[in-house]
Amino acid sequence: MTEMKTTCSSMFTVAVHAGERAPKPEFTPVATPIYPSSSFFYADMEMLDGAFAGTHSGPMYTRYGNPTVSALETAVAALEGGEAALAYSSGMAAIHGALLGAGSRAGAAIVAAYDVYGATYALVSTLLKDLGVSAHFVDATDADATANTVKATRAAAVIVETLSNPLLKVADLPRLARAAHDGGAALLVDNTFATPYLCRPLDHGADYVIHSATKYLGGHGDVLGGVVVTSQERRQRLFEINKLVGGNLGPQEAWLVLRGIKTLPLRVQRQCENALVVARWLASHAAVCRDYFPGLASHPQYGLATRMLNRGLSGAMVSFELRDGTRERVFRFLEALKLIIPATTLGDVYSLVLYPAMSSHRALDPALRRSYGISDGLVRLSVGIEDPADIIADLEQALDA
Ligand SMILES: Cc1ncc(COP(=O)(O)O)c(C=O)c1O
Repeated sequence: MTEMKTTCSSMFTVAVHAGERAPKPEFTPVATPIYPSSSFFYADMEMLDGAFAGTHSGPMYTRYGNPTVSALETAVAALEGGEAALAYSSGMAAIHGALLGAGSRAGAAIVAAYDVYGATYALVSTLLKDLGVSAHFVDATDADATANTVKATRAAAVIVETLSNPLLKVADLPRLARAAHDGGAALLVDNTFATPYLCRPLDHGADYVIHSATKYLGGHGDVLGGVVVTSQERRQRLFEINKLVGGNLGPQEAWLVLRGIKTLPLRVQRQCENALVVARWLASHAAVCRDYFPGLASHPQYGLATRMLNRGLSGAMVSFELRDGTRERVFRFLEALKLIIPATTLGDVYSLVLYPAMSSHRALDPALRRSYGISDGLVRLSVGIEDPADIIADLEQALDA
């Protein structure tokens, strides 16, 4: 069954079927089309049966797979140098999927860097904990302490961020991979901040690479998504889980991310160059008492950053502390900005600023948050592709306001 039978003349039938299911075209679209179809059929029922059985690679139902989503998965796996990828409806769905795939179940333990993104922290310390998974937080910059915790807890998984959110600590991935593997755990790396342009964690021994595609991969602030890159075998496990929980990325969203990826290297190169200029300027401003950019020699892991991050770049995120570190002072600064947008995201072409205490790390107990170094005066800047002189001018007028 392909095109509508010409014998149908009722407008009720014509309205539903006309124009649909045209025969296979002889042309190939240059850009992957959006396939907004929830299901697919074949001329031959054996092929459909094969698609269900996995012996035929075609799609049959979008929760199981969709051609636009598959194109994105192929692209992200290629960028990260991995065998396969699975796309999710958000970065958090991807983190959840990867943690489940890596063996999070009642009685299992997870080791996490204490300064992971706030929702990741909350996922591990509340939701998974309530399901019987024990959570153990470590200072992931201390690979020996991490190794000891992995062994002591017989952890199934270790989760870290290449560049942590928001303190921009750098993960020593080869050492963390050894720490995880020696204790029998898988290493999961959230590579959202670094992007594959700066670091490919699988090359350093990671088992799963996770992205909030909402950020640099998409890059334009118009889509929510997540991706996990891993081996073909692990991807199969993630797929089996996601078939049941249904945290799928939609084809429209997949297309937007795929489109964003085409300029990922161009954007990230420019954003990183801008960030270095902005970080240097901020470090010399009287209203700023601390600047966390890993590309500055003052960063405690400057040497490690030059080894872990490629192309002599250090990322495009700059966190800094205002000298008068009160919530009121930070709010005044944020409200005075004219170009930089105080919105809760990062990695877009626009420069964006966020107040971690109010948003990304709001779920953390304030005393615990402060003890982790995320103070009431900390601001996180995601540097965009604008002219750096304009970004600095905006920061200057807002800091002086
Ligand atoms: C490092 C990191 N990982 C994961 C996430 C979650 O991504 P999403 O908002 O797409 O679920 C975020 C969100 O800010 C993030 O910063």
